[in-house]
Amino acid sequence: MRNVNKDNITEVFTGYFGEDTDPRAREILASLAKHLHAFAKEVNLTHEEWRQGLELAQWTGKITTDERNEFVLLSDVLGLSSLVDMLNSRPDATSSSVLGPFHVSNPPVLEIGGDLKGDYDGELLLVEGAVRDTNGRPVAGATIDIWQTAPNGLYSSQDPNQDIHSFHALMTTDAEGRYAFTTARPVSYTVPDDGPVGKILQAAGRHPWRPSHLHYIIKAKGFHTLVTEVFPDDDPYLDQDTVFGVRNDLVMTYTERRAEDFPKGFKLSGKVTEPFLSVKFDLVLAVAQIS
Ligand code: BEZ
Ligand code: FE
Repeated sequence: MRNVNKDNITEVFTGYFGEDTDPRAREILASLAKHLHAFAKEVNLTHEEWRQGLELAQWTGKITTDERNEFVLLSDVLGLSSLVDMLNSRPDATSSSVLGPFHVSNPPVLEIGGDLKGDYDGELLLVEGAVRDTNGRPVAGATIDIWQTAPNGLYSSQDPNQDIHSFHALMTTDAEGRYAFTTARPVSYTVPDDGPVGKILQAAGRHPWRPSHLHYIIKAKGFHTLVTEVFPDDDPYLDQDTVFGVRNDLVMTYTERRAEDFPKGFKLSGKVTEPFLSVKFDLVLAVAQIS
């Protein structure tokens, strides 16, 4: 086509596809071009704005390393990561939520009733619950990969003063599907905002905060792996998570309990002398389709 114009460019684009292209790749690329062209027309994109956008993309590439993936963060704050999660979630199972960049491989094994808090400050939080299938039956032998911020709002990989495995653990559910541990109450924190993503948040008049949460990856044979997060209902950022990770069924309620009511069977060292928080949260896994 030698007479390309603003009205036919999307059609011309799809007309350039080779004959042997993968149908799914065609569908995705044609739709991408359609929406990209419509976007540029809708906002009447100027050369200067187009250039600024490409400079942000270039900066995103330059700042990205094995440790810091600014492209994923960009997808997170634009709501794309959460949208992909929701499009692929299993309706009967616990909702999934963003993985984030702070998971570490090979977390240390923690027995049921084990402790993540150690000598860290912060409020003592007792977490317990069970993993079940969509019929309410316990899932025994599920592994739960758990991670969270330290009380200073930093993940271990962001903080040279923490051991890389602090506030990370791998627990296996018992015959009743149960898990339980003690930890320090997670805190709200900001996503990295010193790069291009920070610039976009600034331009949109948005803050970089996430509500406090616990991260879980739950794996069990015969079930879909669940990557999720759980959030306390009293967090000030619950209704404005900058990466759109909150779902109704992922919200939990902490109960304040008296020190003397601390249950037996937990491995916490030392005596509990102050009131502590406690929460019960059950997780539901969907059966994997056998293909
Ligand atoms: C997190 O929850 O760890 C996280 C998620 C998305 C972006 C940054 C951090
Ligand atoms: Fe997180």
